[in-house]
Formats: sequence, C-alpha cells, structure tokens
Amino acid sequence: MRFITPEKPIDCPKIWKDFTAPAGARAVLTLMGLGLYRAFLNGQRVGREYLTPGFNDYDAYLRAQTWDVTDLLAENNRLEVWLGNGWYKGRLGLGESRGRDRWGSRYLLAARLEIAGADGSLATLETDETWLAGPSPIVDGGIYDGEIRDDTRQTGESAACVPAVYSGRVEPWQSPPIRAYAERKPVLLHTPAGEQVLDFGQNLAGIIRFVNRLPRCESLRIQSGEVLQGGNFYRDNLRSAKSEYVYTSDGVEKEIEPLFTFYGFRYAKVEGLARVDPADFTAVALSSDLEQTLRASTGHAKLNRLMENAWWGQRSNFLDVPTDCPQRDERMGWTADTQVFVNTACYQMDCKAFYRKFMRDMREDQLRYYGGDIPAYSPSVKGEAIHGGAVWADAGTIIPWNVYMAYGDQDLLRENYPMMRDYAEYLIRADAAAGGSHIVFPAFTFGDWVAQDGMTPQSVRGGTLEAYIQGIYYMHSVDLTARAAAELGEAADARRYEALAEEIRAALLAEYFTPGGNLCVDTQTAYVLALHYGVYRNEEKLLQGFRRRLQRDFYRITCGFTGTPLILSALMDHGMEEEAFRMLLTEEFPGWLYAVNLGATTIWERWNSLNPDGSMSGTGMNSLNHYAYGSVCEAIYSRVMGLRCGAPGWKRAIVSPHISARLGHAELRYASAAGVWECGWRISPEGSVTLRLTVPEGAEADVTLPDHPEGLRQTVGAGEHTWTWRPLRDVLHPFSRHSLMGDLMEDPRAAALMQKHMPARYAACLGRDSESRALRLEESGGSHPVDEKTLAVLERELRQVRVDPCSADDIGSFVRAAGKAKRPE
Ligand code: BGC
Repeated sequence: MRFITPEKPIDCPKIWKDFTAPAGARAVLTLMGLGLYRAFLNGQRVGREYLTPGFNDYDAYLRAQTWDVTDLLAENNRLEVWLGNGWYKGRLGLGESRGRDRWGSRYLLAARLEIAGADGSLATLETDETWLAGPSPIVDGGIYDGEIRDDTRQTGESAACVPAVYSGRVEPWQSPPIRAYAERKPVLLHTPAGEQVLDFGQNLAGIIRFVNRLPRCESLRIQSGEVLQGGNFYRDNLRSAKSEYVYTSDGVEKEIEPLFTFYGFRYAKVEGLARVDPADFTAVALSSDLEQTLRASTGHAKLNRLMENAWWGQRSNFLDVPTDCPQRDERMGWTADTQVFVNTACYQMDCKAFYRKFMRDMREDQLRYYGGDIPAYSPSVKGEAIHGGAVWADAGTIIPWNVYMAYGDQDLLRENYPMMRDYAEYLIRADAAAGGSHIVFPAFTFGDWVAQDGMTPQSVRGGTLEAYIQGIYYMHSVDLTARAAAELGEAADARRYEALAEEIRAALLAEYFTPGGNLCVDTQTAYVLALHYGVYRNEEKLLQGFRRRLQRDFYRITCGFTGTPLILSALMDHGMEEEAFRMLLTEEFPGWLYAVNLGATTIWERWNSLNPDGSMSGTGMNSLNHYAYGSVCEAIYSRVMGLRCGAPGWKRAIVSPHISARLGHAELRYASAAGVWECGWRISPEGSVTLRLTVPEGAEADVTLPDHPEGLRQTVGAGEHTWTWRPLRDVLHPFSRHSLMGDLMEDPRAAALMQKHMPARYAACLGRDSESRALRLEESGGSHPVDEKTLAVLERELRQVRVDPCSADDIGSFVRAAGKAKRPE
C-alpha cells in the first residue's frame, strides 16, 4: 500500500477522496495511519475502534486495519480520514526527553478500498497524489494533554497530497483493538470553590462524550481528575499532563467526543457552561477488547470491592499496552507492573493476544536498543527508557512463561523463547563482566519499589538489599529459560540453564544465609522471595525469621512492587494463613482495604496514596489507578478460593483453598484455556466446610482439603465434586492462648474477656500502636507475667466466642459491575 502525506504541514489534518461505486457493491477498507486516525465514509464513522493504530514502536512496525464498509457505501462517496497526534506525534515520554514528534513530524496515511460490484466487477481505490488534504476540526492534542477541537475552523481549503515513505514493517492487526466497554452517567457536584464537577462514581480510563448545545463560537473546557480535595476539583497528581478537552461550537446540537486521546478520571470539571446538565455527559470507558474470564466473590463485601477495583485497574491500564497508569504524563508499558500483574490479569480476562503483542514489543526493544536486555518500559519510545534491571527486565522471561502456563500455547512460547534466551545471556554476560560470582551486579534496579520499609513513608526505594533482589531474579530468569527450553525440547539449553540456576542458588545461599540457615536480609520482601523461589537452607529457620520480622513489623505489610504480589501466597503456602488473612483483611494503613475504606474504586500506586483524612499524600508520583498492587488478587483466586494452575493451559489444577470465617464463603468460575473451572467453599452455621469443584472435560485436579481430619488429598477428573468435612481447626471459634492480642482486641467479645481476666494486659493493648498487640496471649513480653491459671480460665472462655461466618449479600459484585455497565453498540 502507498503512503501519502499532505504536501504542506497541516496540524491534525483530514485527508479525503471522492469516488463512485456501482449500486449494490460491497467494499472492504484497509487503512494504516500515523499518528492516530479515524475514518469516515460518507460522514459515518468506520468501525468501533478507538485510538487506532494503537501504541508500538512505529519505526519497527505499523498495523493495518480492515473493515467491511458495505453498509456505509453509496453511489457517490467521500472517504475521509482524520489524523491526530497521539503517541506518534504528541508529547510523550519521561523526564527531560519528553517532547513532541517522537517518531516523526508528518502525518501518514495509506488506504485501500476494494469495491466488488454486484456484477462481479472489481475496483481498487488506493491512496495517491489525487487525494486531498485540509485541516480537520481538531486543532491540537496528545495523549497527555487531551484535545482541542474547533468546529468553526475553516476546513474547506484543500491541499495536495504527496507520496511518503514508511520504512517499518507493515502487518495485519492481530491484537485486540481498543473499544468502549462501558458507559457511565455522572452526578453533578457544586464544589465549595464554585466549580461544576461531574462525578462518574468510578475511576476509569476513557473519554467523556457530551451533547453540544453551545451557540456558535462559544467554548467549553473539560478537565479530568481522580479525586476531590476539600470537596474541590483536584489534579495536581497528573503532573504536567493537561488532560483536558477544549471545544468551540459551530452552534449545531450534536454529540461530541475526543478522538485522539484518553483520560484517567473519575471527576471532570466543566467550564464554559452556565449550567451543566449531567444528563448531557457520559463517560465512555475504553480498553483493549478482552473477554472477561472470571467471576469471583466472597462473603466479605470489602474484599469483593477490592477484586472489583483490580478488575477496573486492569481495564483502565490495558490500552493496547499494559500501562502503569492512565492519567498522568506517563502511561507507559512499565515492565515490572506488567509482570507482577500477569497472573491476576490472565485469571480475569483472556489476555493471550494482548500479551502476545506486548511480548513482541519487548522483543523489538530488546533487539533494537538494548543489546539483549529489556527496558524499564516497552515500547521504550525509541530506546529512551532506562534498562529495566531486576524485576522490571525480568518481564522478558516471566511474561512468556506465565502466559504459557495460562494458555498452554507452545507456539507462543517458541515465538518468545529467543527473547528469554537472549535476556538470560545478557545477564550471564553482565555476571561474567562483574567477576562471575553470580551475586555482584553493577546494574541498576528499582528494587522493592514504593515499599514501606524505605527511608521515609514516601520513599520510592524499599529497604530490601538490591543485590539480593538482583541475585534472586537472575536465578529466576535463568530457571524460567531452562524450563521453557525443556518444554520446547531444547535439551542442551535446558541443561545449561538449569545447572546455572542451581549455581546461582548456591551462590545466594552462601552469600545471604548463615551456615545455620538464617537469612541475613531481614525484610518481609527478602523472606517472601526466599520462600517463593525456594532459596533457603532450612525452611524452619527461615520461617522463624519471617515470623519475627512480621511481629517486629507489627504484622503490617511493608513490601513494595517486588514482595507484595507474592507475600500472601508465600505465607499461605508455609502455614502462616493467619498472618496472611490478617494482612489481607486489615482495614488500616498499610493494607488493601485501607484504600477501599477511603472510597477507592481502583487500585492505588502507593499504600499511602491518600492519608486517612482523604488528602493526597504527595503529588510527585501518586496515581489512584495503578494496577500493580491489584496483583494480590492472584493470591485470592489461587490460595483463598484455592484454584491454581497446575500444568500449562490449565489441563491440571491444584486445588487447595484457605478457609476463614471472616469470609464465610469464597468461590470463582474461571473460563480457562482447558474449559470452565468452578471452585468454591462455604462454612455452614455449624462450622463444617463444603468445597465444590467443577473440573472441565479432559482436565484433572489435585485436591487438598484444609484441616481435614484424615488429611484428605485426592486427584479427581472431569465433572462436579463436593466434599463436606468438619475441619480440625474450629473455624467458628478461632480464639485461644495462641491468638495475637491485636486480634483479640479487634473482637469486642474477646476484648471484653481480656479486660475481665487480664485487665493490665488489656490496658497495655489499648491504642492501635501498642506493642503488646503484637504478642500472643500466651507470651508475656516481659512486663506482664502470664499466670497459667488465669490463662487457662481465659482460654476456656475465649473458646466459646463464636465468629459467625461472614456473608455479605454481595455475591458476584465483581461481575455485576461489569455486567451492569452498558455495552455500547
Ligand atoms: C511508574 C511505576 C514504575 C516505576 C518504575 C513509575 O513512575 O508509574 O509503576 O514501575 O515508575 O520505577
């Protein structure tokens, strides 16, 4: 196909061609454009896609889209394509280099229309010098800054088009396009500052459509924001992103929406209208068009909201590229964010084609700009991203492997094996250059990003020794490459990488563990990584250390991007489910439900994005729609509900749920590559547990029933299975001498018993930060000796305290929100 461009520079041009077609003809249109484009045939929009041609390294490739446009065809036709700046030409990138025209300064278009007459005739119309160009009503815009449209702009003048060269590869469109998946109506707020602000009730990525009723030449301005502050509109956390829509009316009543940008918002301030009618405004939520594959619910309403928030987080950040956030001057495919969320994402939506495209983007970057390494974000904006470093760059092995596990597609693994291998080799070279010890890394890493054990609560660097994280991820990437090689029959590679992974493990043990097995890096994330990746000499010693660490951290999560996605699984897999549930269900800072309590409708970037009074904790790097910490959902689905992938493509599952009366019940339905799995448990009022499991045809499940009197483990095949048992641990009477005093204090009846029998210890536990709360009832902690007789009496009474199985009348809220939303035509 031939590319053309307007002969003289025109900002955001339209390019058109008039033609005739025989009556009854059929027509297929294929288009490529740079920057973003939207096509109209006889004034009607072609297709339902947004932000075409999507986001990738345009120097590398450009995707062509094809539509059947028969329904829009007439005898006398005008095909008109509007072009906007988008990622290609608008302001884009991070730091100093952020600027315009990152890939080029000219707008390109290639179009081919194939018209088949009813009589069998075939005609082809292609872009050439006979096409005309002129200004469109779009004046300016960009991904970060929004759009300016002036419908009074003189668009009649026409200029010639000239041939242009596009030197990248031209490809058919293979990944899910961006489409609208939901619409929401707002309520109107009048703020103390006198603003008219629309509240759409949900943070999302998308655009705002409105009905224009303005007289000719009058303008309005819409600005987007994520949160109110002091009841007023606020957007300082968008940093330099203008994120606005400025419209000048031609006096014609019609629906208007931005074409070549998107916003991350819940609120919108409208200026220029004396009285805003909320009925005239609609939020149109945009996302890559992926199928939802999961329904999940528990008896805990706030946990349900958390899952729903993670789902919205995925939707809002899956716009052709898996982005960190959709609102500020960033919106990049950060590789760690992507890798930590990949498993959660693949439960929630069918992400295979989406990640396939992202893996190709990483591979392009790896080959073009990074000499085998993987950047911190991809597309790297022509190599501007820094090298990813541990956890970020490891997306190059983790994503291909995890996507393989989720979908079982060997071809896809084979397609990505060269990226895995090249990355492993890059690490091996760096290791050798640093002396070959396997533990010294001159490279950069973001480490345990935005953890709570850094220098200050606002620090971005966590407290876990970075070389330790680097060593673990070096080993992990080499290990995954070995596993992929084995799966693909690359036996020599498999042996080599497997042996190296073992060597690295040995080096890590020698460097970071005492001969007796104590881990010398004493942070939650360090313990989590050791457990998750199986790097320890002595499991019991490691667990003792972890327990001590947790106690000293007051059982509050301190992990950042690296530890958070793995901590609950690590705890639950190693007999610390009590600690895991405490962390998951805490409503205090830091914890997931802290954000839910503060009204979060998506996942925040930081544990403390908002302070308890609702004020923003900072503006430098503070997004309220950042899915990374939503990766906790993987643990909820795989460990709490208990359905975990056991073989590539879900041909086998490991079913091993963790039961808690605080949830009452938990179930999910997952449409996997192997068929539909259903798994759920429920606690009866008498305290027995029922587990129901549906295994799809051709699959098997290895089932472990928790606290089963006979320790039941069983392998079952396709069909429906039910087990009911009375767990050894009385789930409805959880309190004993082993209980943590903090837990006792949270239950009013248990607290009252403590006050009655151990008034001094009770008093010592008052106040949220009292150290005594981190002790078990049986532990004296030094200051309050435990009298065995009193303890025995108290324990007897505590054992009578019954916790009713929780049952929020909120089943499937995660699904309902998606279902409720109107799917636009
Ligand atoms: C992004 C993160 C990203 C990080 C890397 C931030 O600005 O929003 O999510 O992973 O930088 O350090």
